Amino acid sequence: AQKLILDVDTGTDDAVAIMLAALHPAIDLVAVTTVNGNVGVQHCTDNTLRVLDHIGRSDIRVYEGADRPFVRRGVPVINRYEDGGEKYHPEELPVPPARSKKADKTAVEFLIETYRAATDPIVLMPTGPLTNIAAALAADPAFVKRVPEIIIMGGGYAFGNVTATAEFNFWADAEAAARVLNAGFEKLTLVPLDATHEALMTYADCDRLGALGTPAGKATADIVGFRIGVHDKFQKMGEHGGSAPVHDAVCVAYLIDRSVLSTTRYFVEVETASPLTVGTSIVDTQARSGGRPNTDLALHADARRFVDILAETFARPHGA
Ligand code: BDR
Ligand code: CA
Repeated sequence: AQKLILDVDTGTDDAVAIMLAALHPAIDLVAVTTVNGNVGVQHCTDNTLRVLDHIGRSDIRVYEGADRPFVRRGVPVINRYEDGGEKYHPEELPVPPARSKKADKTAVEFLIETYRAATDPIVLMPTGPLTNIAAALAADPAFVKRVPEIIIMGGGYAFGNVTATAEFNFWADAEAAARVLNAGFEKLTLVPLDATHEALMTYADCDRLGALGTPAGKATADIVGFRIGVHDKFQKMGEHGGSAPVHDAVCVAYLIDRSVLSTTRYFVEVETASPLTVGTSIVDTQARSGGRPNTDLALHADARRFVDILAETFARPHGA
């Protein structure tokens, strides 16, 4: 099986990504690291532990990471869609409290030590702000060469979801995102909003997953149903109602089946200076900058294949 480390800010879509990675037989989920993002890092850690317990994978260790951005000190966690108590990412996911505890080491210590000792290739998949990865790069100059492949959920070519042009993960720690894209990873795939918004899930998809009757199927139906409700209310971008992207899970589906995304090689940078466009991914589609392509950029996704992968994986008996 393909070894994987997920770096998450759980987060509703992160939760679906974790379940898919933990339950698919082609993936060996080595560990999960957490980062400040959708909610404060302690909540991200707790939610991650809850999800793993719920599907019977409390054997997978969880390492807590950064509680604030890499450079900026003033940027708080934003749960921007707060409205009468309703949040885009609830602080506690709708699964029972965790029985297991986080590991003692920090996320960055774990990442550096694990890649240093690795004998098999381990894919790294950050689906939150890139703070832990930037910190690992800064602490260990050899880290970049030890990661054979990194698949990142972040950025948006055609549009943003926090500002007009910036996507949340890049916006929440723009300096970290810029460092990671510039670091020189051997194989870096970027999964931006353009792709994840082509893989929208609907209430009918939730019904299909819920009907599987398994812990992961039912939890995903609940979580995605909640996402659709909030997305319709706060974030719909010209899309039909009754659907929502489940960004982070698309990245895991791509690791399972590379036909889920189609990619093109480009030079991509992240804006860190302009107040208007901070956190924006700048894609050099016309090769104007002279920068060497550093990214396999996924601009399109196969929605049907994505949902089929979730349904096939969550149908297998598992967990509590
Ligand atoms: C990304 O930001 C977070 O809200 C989601 O979990 C996802 O990783 C989408 O912009
Ligand atoms: Ca996320």
